[in-house]
Amino acid sequence: MTIIVAKPGEVQFPKGMEGVIARETTKGYVDGQKGKLYYHGIPIEEIAEHSTYEEVFFLLMYDKLPTKDELSILEMRMRQYREIPDAVYDFIKSRAGGYNVHPMSILRTAVSMLAPFDDASEEQAAAEREAIKITSRMATITAAIGRVRRGLEPIHPRYELSHAANFLYMYLGEDQDDFMNRLMDVLLILHADHGCNASTFATLVVISTLADMYSAIVGGISALKGPLHGGANERAMAMLDEIGSEKDAEPWILNAIAKKKKIMGFGHRVYKAYDPRARILHSYAEEITKRAGTERWLNIASTIERVMIAKLGAKGIFPNVDFYSGTVMSSMGIERRLFTPIFATGRVAGWAAHAVEQLKDNRIYRPRFIYVGPVDASYTPIDER
Ligand SMILES: CC(C)(COP(=O)(O)OP(=O)(O)OC[C@H]1O[C@@H](n2cnc3c(N)ncnc32)[C@H](O)[C@@H]1OP(=O)(O)O)[C@@H](O)C(=O)NCCC(=O)NCCS
Repeated sequence: MTIIVAKPGEVQFPKGMEGVIARETTKGYVDGQKGKLYYHGIPIEEIAEHSTYEEVFFLLMYDKLPTKDELSILEMRMRQYREIPDAVYDFIKSRAGGYNVHPMSILRTAVSMLAPFDDASEEQAAAEREAIKITSRMATITAAIGRVRRGLEPIHPRYELSHAANFLYMYLGEDQDDFMNRLMDVLLILHADHGCNASTFATLVVISTLADMYSAIVGGISALKGPLHGGANERAMAMLDEIGSEKDAEPWILNAIAKKKKIMGFGHRVYKAYDPRARILHSYAEEITKRAGTERWLNIASTIERVMIAKLGAKGIFPNVDFYSGTVMSSMGIERRLFTPIFATGRVAGWAAHAVEQLKDNRIYRPRFIYVGPVDASYTPIDER
């Protein structure tokens, strides 16, 4: 494109960079028309059924499923990095509870705080090791934030547990059964990667300047915070709470559609079909809501889904991952405000893998604007304005 100065609206461009190709990747692929998601070619359904978060992290980082030895080395490295500095616990204890601060802000600051405690944080050559450290430690930070928000002391990580089981232990304070641990694993797996979404792109923009991995991941966390991206899960759950009962769900949603409200947990830039992650979570939601006695949420959600698809399905609007993840996490005993930090705790695998991939073949991201402001304006001294 050569025109860079124009009148407003004169030059057509895809707003929100829709359809613009940022780079090549071997990590994941979203087929939005068919409603399919693949991690390095493997359908998400197969991964969610058979894999673990640690294995998915390996797959995304190294573009292959690990052998037993390779997996146990990565698991060992992740376990070894779990603990966070006392100063970071102190910060979380001092700011995460009792203040009107979103836990994503605490997470963002806490991850940033890790860097000065890490001698290798500025080393480009250490990017891969830094990626493993940060991925491991985000779970500790998120769990600690969740504890402090409930007026409890953070719990230090245990080393014999899997990443998912250790997270639940640190957050809930006791060992969970196999179903709960598996569900946590699936939640982290389903959030691990999703194409060139806003937070992954933010991570890439930062790493493409050759800034360090911590800065890049903080960029990802910052972009994920917003309600149009990772913040939608919390708002979708707030909507279910506001509706309150199954009988009120249909009139509530019809009224919202009539008012052209954006319904959180629906719609997607790429998916114009049912998000496969929502389908997987829906089946887990059936089981966990039964166990927790929270079927009410699932019933409200199912009614909303039915009406939304009947009214807006033709426009390609279907539930996305954020719609059922809230019902699932609430039923697991996780408070609403922690949903987005947990999304980040899963997505960090994708951010890190894409950042390492970017560094192997880097060129700084530097798109352009079309300038539609005044030209040849002159400077007016302040007293004459
Ligand atoms: C995800 C999202 C940001 C994608 O945005 P986008 O690609 O820019 O799509 P747009 O916002 O331009 O929406 C396109 C059309 O679908 C409608 N639409 C999109 N999402 C909708 C939703 N959740 N509820 C109702 N209508 C929706 C828009 O109103 C618009 O309609 P119009 O063409 O008549 O104006 C958007 O669907 C959204 O805000 N969803 C709710 C938040 C959410 O769940 N985010 C998590 C994504 S994983």
